[in-house]
Amino acid sequence: MPISLTALELFCGIGGFAAAVEGTNVHVVGALDQSPAALAVYRLNFPEHNARQTDLEKITASDLAGFGADLWWLSPPCQPYSIRGNQKDLADPRAQSLARILSVFPGIPEGVLPASLALENVAGFARAQARERLVELLTARKYEIRERLLCPTELGMPSRRARYYLVASRLGLLPPRPVSSPPRPLRSFLNPVFNDDPPSELLVPADVVNKFGEGFRILDPLDPMAYTTCFTAGYGKSLMHAGSYLRCRHGVRRFAPEEIAGLLGFPETFSLPATLSLRKCWHLLGNSLSVVAVREVFKALPGVNNGRGGSSPEF
Ligand SMILES: C[S@@+](CC[C@H](N)C(=O)[O-])C[C@H]1O[C@@H](n2cnc3c(N)ncnc32)[C@H](O)[C@@H]1O
Repeated sequence: MPISLTALELFCGIGGFAAAVEGTNVHVVGALDQSPAALAVYRLNFPEHNARQTDLEKITASDLAGFGADLWWLSPPCQPYSIRGNQKDLADPRAQSLARILSVFPGIPEGVLPASLALENVAGFARAQARERLVELLTARKYEIRERLLCPTELGMPSRRARYYLVASRLGLLPPRPVSSPPRPLRSFLNPVFNDDPPSELLVPADVVNKFGEGFRILDPLDPMAYTTCFTAGYGKSLMHAGSYLRCRHGVRRFAPEEIAGLLGFPETFSLPATLSLRKCWHLLGNSLSVVAVREVFKALPGVNNGRGGSSPEF
């Protein structure tokens, strides 16, 4: 029987990390975020986890150490490092929660330091002062560190979302292994009913398509090579550069939230509260992460087991 590992999710959002470790020996003992809407989705899908509304700008070393987790997962806000943001890095107000965690980290006593830690962010984080500070702190506390950029298209998913990942462990990291994932066609993630008869709120009005359509990425659902661009939190709000569109019988439609969740790698059982507006669902999913990519980067961490008898390399 694999030994179970405990994990603390910082900036848990709707639970991309929780979905990635479902069915493994990783047991989430705490999930912290400040957004009530994100936590409503998280709690609906992971009712057993201890999800708490928390402002991480006020977290203390003893709050963090109190969870006694073997592993910390961090998905801090990405706007401070994003090319679409102001790239103010640690000076951005939205970076203050990560800055706080970095500033209390040296105060975590040796005996309760997490054995492993991992972080996900936009590619620009690789050049950020925040990343430099994090690496400095982890090195000082004897973590082995590995960083990489990974896009789910490298894992066979028909959806782009290149992100920076850092994994670190005081127990050492497992050697990298080549990835081999057969490509999955876009149509396997689409609701066929929506291609013939999409709900009106998914349809893009014809006059908008006529005016701006040239700037849209409109995909043919039957194209075996089709892939989506990254869905951002602005999908459904910004017309351009926020995600792809689909050609359908009645014109052009947006992707449904459930389809985006599937492309991120959330399981079919994942659900969104009926009370959330469509715009909010798109917003929360655009802030989330590729579950498939998290599983891949976790292969580097020692002791993670996929629950089917495989240890980390098969996770
Ligand atoms: C990039 S998203 C992470 C999303 C998450 N990985 C998921 O799967 O949905 C960043 C998250 O940080 C949260 N956040 C931002 N500032 C925060 C703060 N001061 N305290 C706690 N959470 C915060 C946001 O609510 C958001 O859910």
